[in-house]
Amino acid sequence: MMIKIAPSILSANFAKLEEEIRDVERGGADYIHVDVMDGHFVPNMTIGPLVVEAIRPVTTLPLDVHLMIEQPDRYIPAFAKAGADYLSVHVEACPHLHRTIHFIKEHRVKAGVVLNPHTPVSMIEHVLDDVDLVLLMTVNPGFGGQTFIHSVLPKITRVAQLVKERNLQVEIEVDGGVNAQTARLCIEAGANVLVAGSAVYNETDRAAAIRAIRGDH
Ligand code: DX5
Ligand code: ZN
Repeated sequence: MMIKIAPSILSANFAKLEEEIRDVERGGADYIHVDVMDGHFVPNMTIGPLVVEAIRPVTTLPLDVHLMIEQPDRYIPAFAKAGADYLSVHVEACPHLHRTIHFIKEHRVKAGVVLNPHTPVSMIEHVLDDVDLVLLMTVNPGFGGQTFIHSVLPKITRVAQLVKERNLQVEIEVDGGVNAQTARLCIEAGANVLVAGSAVYNETDRAAAIRAIRGDH
């Protein structure tokens, strides 16, 4: 699968979000990654459906919305209405994961499942055939700019192996501490969507940053 880059607007300047999104779109981004945090599931608060709705007309890129919230079912209709293209929910927040995935799909949104660094891949083996995307956290979610956790790499390999064995079209995304160096390791392990917050938005030349993460020179 082609490598896709999903800049996370968590590290963008929120006072000029429109410009920040257009900048990475021009710079070759494939998705816009939107980090939603509720101050309960993770120790930080960010944005809700209103901001997703506000940025929807600003870009033609798919909005890849990462829900780091408890009881995500309560907000799926609102994020779908706001214009999310992907909605990803954490396995750790979903006691009825299969139901939640199908609830997302009923809203004609692509469904993703997310695993924290310590959560085993076996937790999603029985829903893999139902999802469009698996997101493997390579940091503990909550903040941008953290250090990549290398022990997640074998999990990427394992998901890639399951996807191949079952002949599925599931995207494998990684999120947290991704830069030009760690991106290589993730791609080698089988990831095809790379989220990058600080490695894109902390650089003045976002196009060059995106190229470096993708591995183009
Ligand atoms: C972390 C978020 C990430 C974050 C990544 O909780 O889910 O999407 O923005 O930021 P970097 O790339 O700086 O680690
Ligand atoms: Zn994220």
